[in-house]
Amino acid sequence: MIYYISVKKIFQVGSDKKVNFAVLCVSDRCSKGLCEDKSGPLISELVACCGSTKEYLIVPDEKSEIEKALIYLCDEIKADVVFTTGGTGFAPRDVTPEATKAVIEREAPGIAEGIRQKSMEITPKAMLSRAASGIRKGSLIINLPGSPKAVKESLQFVLPVLPHAVEVLSGNTLNCGGSYGKVGD
Ligand code: MTE
Repeated sequence: MIYYISVKKIFQVGSDKKVNFAVLCVSDRCSKGLCEDKSGPLISELVACCGSTKEYLIVPDEKSEIEKALIYLCDEIKADVVFTTGGTGFAPRDVTPEATKAVIEREAPGIAEGIRQKSMEITPKAMLSRAASGIRKGSLIINLPGSPKAVKESLQFVLPVLPHAVEVLSGNTLNCGGSYGKVGD
């Protein structure tokens, strides 16, 4: 809960820009309707403090389908931030990081590393996330794990920096020296 307050504070002192999000659930079972995706809607709910979700898609754990969806969300929907959920682990069909790396133009490793590092303070299982993060055109793609618990934990670490990340991505570097965007503000 603390991070909601954090993010609001960051907006008040730093940026009024609302972020356009897109959410991509990567799951064989959810894509077949065999189970309900709880993490995608949870992401939309948790990011509502910073903006709104423009598009939400579900695809199976197929690299080509994930790539196609990511390209659509970046190039057509033009989301500022695309969150994926699922497919980042060690299971044979977990290929979300590979699909992400195939479509990004520039790496942004600090985001995935930061989430992993902070998450390991909660559970050592966070080491099992192979999540990636990077930039395609004007969109930042961030892989999140699949479970709602892991999504909630991970988002609290990354949400506070997103308004500034999006601002800089759009070419505005004026606020780089400011205090907002610090995790834990
Ligand atoms: N990160 C956080 N913060 N909390 C968690 O419970 N679970 C881990 C890890 N990251 C976890 C986490 C586990 S058990 C796995 S297997 C990997 O994320 C990959 O998850 P995925 O395959 O659902 O993407």
